[in-house]
Amino acid sequence: MAIQSPENKLWWNERLSLPEIGWITIAFIWGLVMFSTMVVWHFIGEQNLSNEAYRISPEMFGERTEAMAEQYTVRTEGNLDTPVVHPLPGSDIYMLARLWEWWPVLELEKDQTYRLHLSSMDWQHGFSLQPQNINIQVHPGYEMVLTIKPDQVGEYSVVCNEFCGIGHHTMLGKIHVVDKQ
Ligand code: CUA
Repeated sequence: MAIQSPENKLWWNERLSLPEIGWITIAFIWGLVMFSTMVVWHFIGEQNLSNEAYRISPEMFGERTEAMAEQYTVRTEGNLDTPVVHPLPGSDIYMLARLWEWWPVLELEKDQTYRLHLSSMDWQHGFSLQPQNINIQVHPGYEMVLTIKPDQVGEYSVVCNEFCGIGHHTMLGKIHVVDKQ
């Protein structure tokens, strides 16, 4: 930014120089390429999520999560005795974020499809599934719904990747994927 105003007050009437118009053209075309990539990536990328979002109150989301946990808990784990929930394949499953945990632990079957609902009880958290590095932001008042089909048996960690206060670094969750039962 110049301190003095330009000598020629009608500087916007000057002709563009050739290199300048060249760079503007390149930047414009590149912008269009990047924009269309956002759409293309849904078809050729392996990480982009085709998620759905709906309004839901934290109370309602909490009730649905608890109802699922009540019905399908198979055991508890960890020093907080977090329930491990093994829901029916093909069903709607829930994981809630709150200060500072992901609740409950889910146990899913390989090659089965689930509708995973995510929402927050308090404020913004980040759902980051590791080591797959699948990320989505989670807000109170909205639920994000992902249609998922785990294709590898194993233990996956859920890490909060949105700074949410003093316990942020302890905000971990877990998803187990087991063989078809
Ligand atoms: Cu929740 Cu950081």
